[in-house]
Amino acid sequence: MNTLIVYKSYHRMNTEKVAKAMAEAMNAQLTKVEDARPEALAEYDLIGFGSGIYGLKHHKALIDLIEAMPAMDKNVFVFSTCGNLREVNHKLIKEKLTERGCHIVGEFAGALRLNRDWKGALAFIGGKNKGHPDEKDLENARAFAKGLLGTSSTTSSL
Ligand SMILES: Cc1cc2nc3c(=O)[nH]c(=O)nc-3n(C[C@H](O)[C@H](O)[C@H](O)COP(=O)(O)O)c2cc1C
Repeated sequence: MNTLIVYKSYHRMNTEKVAKAMAEAMNAQLTKVEDARPEALAEYDLIGFGSGIYGLKHHKALIDLIEAMPAMDKNVFVFSTCGNLREVNHKLIKEKLTERGCHIVGEFAGALRLNRDWKGALAFIGGKNKGHPDEKDLENARAFAKGLLGTSSTTSSL
């Protein structure tokens, strides 16, 4: 199976670690969203889209890519890392993918580390996920990815 994982990660590179673990587990090609060409996505059998959660949703660059890609009958999965698992919201990205004709076959969300110096409105969750993603988190990501190769639908969280 020809699989691609597109991701955006910039804050603590948490999502990049998870994306790399998934890509290794499923022998997928990995690309940063900045390097992805919307028209090239049609070449893959399965595509994963992931980023940190910023202001309750996926990164805008990922949403922009999905809006720019041609409509395609494609299996896709979404994943994210976040500071507070209760704030994970995959609704927008799933809506955009569905609008393009894609089928969501899996979701993966992880409650990962915030900057311990975090200030402001999210300070209450600062430090809670210190040390993550750890090896167990990455193992969960690998297991999720491998599961996608064998089943039609998978949902998982750390
Ligand atoms: C600008 C900004 C906004 C964020 N907003 C949220 C949020 O709404 N909910 C949440 O749970 N985490 C939030 N976080 C924490 C990130 O989702 C978390 O640190 C994530 O793992 C970052 O991924 P990255 O290191 O791959 O960029 C925010 C972080 C930043 C920098």
